[in-house]
Amino acid sequence: MAVAGAAPERDEAWRRARLNDIFKRLKQSAEPRDLGSLSETLVFASGNPSASIVFVGEAPGAEEERMRKPFVGPAGQKLEQILKAMALERADVYISNVVKFRPKIGDGRFQGERNRPPTHEEMATCLPFLREEIETLRPRVVVALGRTAAEGLLERGGAISAFRGATHDFGGVPVVVTYHPSYLLRQESASKEEGKRAKRLVWEDMLRVMELAGLPISDRQRRFFQ
Ligand code: URA
Repeated sequence: MAVAGAAPERDEAWRRARLNDIFKRLKQSAEPRDLGSLSETLVFASGNPSASIVFVGEAPGAEEERMRKPFVGPAGQKLEQILKAMALERADVYISNVVKFRPKIGDGRFQGERNRPPTHEEMATCLPFLREEIETLRPRVVVALGRTAAEGLLERGGAISAFRGATHDFGGVPVVVTYHPSYLLRQESASKEEGKRAKRLVWEDMLRVMELAGLPISDRQRRFFQ
């Protein structure tokens, strides 16, 4: 029986209901639309509402907008490879973006498959919703994917190299910043060596994420790049 005034039980059903409420409010929210620079289609988060790890990207691209799901294009496939190396699947984690609408180029009519990173204003407008998502999940760790996502989440500028080494804070939850999966794809197509170097750096970050999340780390995982 519910006791009047008692804190709500933060079980999975409660989390799902709260996320659903955030989704509905975001769908009706005037602020992102009033900017005039974002597409109309809402691409909300996906994954496990009880996840201990939350991944945050910058904004959906063309493929994400079509599927109405974050990280389903090439960057999403790369993210899935990273998860596999961590012995995880998409269903084990929660994946979201700072901005939940695809940023438009011009008025969007001739944009085709081209994407652009969100502006600081677009990220600041959408950030309160992401804050509510994180507050609902209360994960053990948040992973910011790339400099733009880190800037939007942490509300300050900086180079990825400066963001990377430290553990940051978002409403009491530790934040690890790593390279965006698209950066890995670009480095891999530049050269085998560059691809491997970038992968090693991301893997260092993921080992820290696994530690913060309390996940077991095998010797093989520790030695991946040794
Ligand atoms: N890049 C992002 O930052 N987010 C997506 O959802 C897809 C690509």
